[in-house]
Amino acid sequence: GPAYGFRHDPFAGEADTALAFWPDALVVMRDGIVTAFGDHAAERPRQPDDLPVHRYPDGIIGPGFVDAHVHYPQMEMTGAFGETLLDWLRRYTFPAEARFADPAHAARIARIFLRELLRAGTTTAAVYCTVHEHSADALFAEAARLGMRLAAGKVLMDRHAPEGLLDGADHGIPATQRLIDRWHGRGRLLYAITPRFAPACTDEALRAAGRLWCDNPGTLVQTHLCETEAEIAWVRELFPGAPSYLDVYARAGLAGPGAVMGHAVHVTEADIAALRRSGCGVAHCPSSNLFLGSGLFRLHDMAGEGVRVGLGSDVGAGTGLSPLRTLGDAYKVARLGGARLHPAQAFWLATRGGAEAMRLEDRIGTLVPGMEADLVVLDPAATPALALRTGAAADPADRLFALAALGDERAVRATYVAGRLVHDRDAAGETGR
Ligand code: GUN
Ligand code: FE
Repeated sequence: GPAYGFRHDPFAGEADTALAFWPDALVVMRDGIVTAFGDHAAERPRQPDDLPVHRYPDGIIGPGFVDAHVHYPQMEMTGAFGETLLDWLRRYTFPAEARFADPAHAARIARIFLRELLRAGTTTAAVYCTVHEHSADALFAEAARLGMRLAAGKVLMDRHAPEGLLDGADHGIPATQRLIDRWHGRGRLLYAITPRFAPACTDEALRAAGRLWCDNPGTLVQTHLCETEAEIAWVRELFPGAPSYLDVYARAGLAGPGAVMGHAVHVTEADIAALRRSGCGVAHCPSSNLFLGSGLFRLHDMAGEGVRVGLGSDVGAGTGLSPLRTLGDAYKVARLGGARLHPAQAFWLATRGGAEAMRLEDRIGTLVPGMEADLVVLDPAATPALALRTGAAADPADRLFALAALGDERAVRATYVAGRLVHDRDAAGETGR
């Protein structure tokens, strides 16, 4: 069936010429890797006759989506009413995360979460667990079973949260090291050192996390940055010596390639320059920023300046795991800033942009030979509204735009992880998981 790809970065170059389309493509996958990709008529004769073929004549094949910022323990409290960030954390988030003291609960939610990610077309994510060590074990174990390329980490926090959610003295760092030893680099799994955000961590805890990152090459870092004005004011009080919020992380050794900063809504020009220079990734979380009323992310000022920006659902402050629905919100946020999110830019954010933010661009985010075989088949006629909108006349870029503006999980026809079909929308019951 049809497939899309990128000729170049649509934020760095011309967006109109960034998308490439194959009207009838063949993706050949072996041992979890894409071994050939291109026009079906040209590629088929080069492949063995006994190659098993899955056909999607009406689909659009693309790389699996990357969710660069999501909290799996927050699925149960998604859509919580009426608060802004700091009150939302106290009133809803911390009580939900406290329930993860029970390992059976963590295992159950981890299973549901990963199944829902695949149903949304997401094949890689950067995931926050809770403070409990076993919350990360539960997620990694399930992701390993599915063969997913997933980054995750136990949350580090040692202040400003309920007693049961704080790392006791000398607990967070050794627990993180144990998890790195157990999971980092096992199969396709990566560990992300996860200081929750500056207000929940003492300077000592942040610096210890920075040393841990330095001592464990290849691991990632994930945290929150400049999400709301009230949070920034609190950071100013808690770290009076720091010139900026970003600087709190930078001085602790937590800014650099492989660090993914969530939100970054209220940043200065100096912050943007520092994010680019240091090679940090940024996760744009438009649904969350709208839901909590956090603010409007300046996507074009960031990605256009060379910051590595990916897309984050930020469930449970974001209201769903579907990258398509999150892109619909990203488009509206861009409009409120007077800009447009071109379809090439939208799909870049949700795939290659996220891969770059997580420094995984050599492995995932595009379908070219040698890359890992994670892909999604989209259905541009998934709903009556989409079918009417994408009828015969629509050109391929506009079909993608319609999916970003109107699509959700229903438009995900199939998801493949490491060459294996892990979600088949139209199959009765569940696929081979
Ligand atoms: N800042 C610190 N923790 C969180 C969280 O769980 N969600 C969001 N959106 N922001 C945070
Ligand atoms: Fe978050």
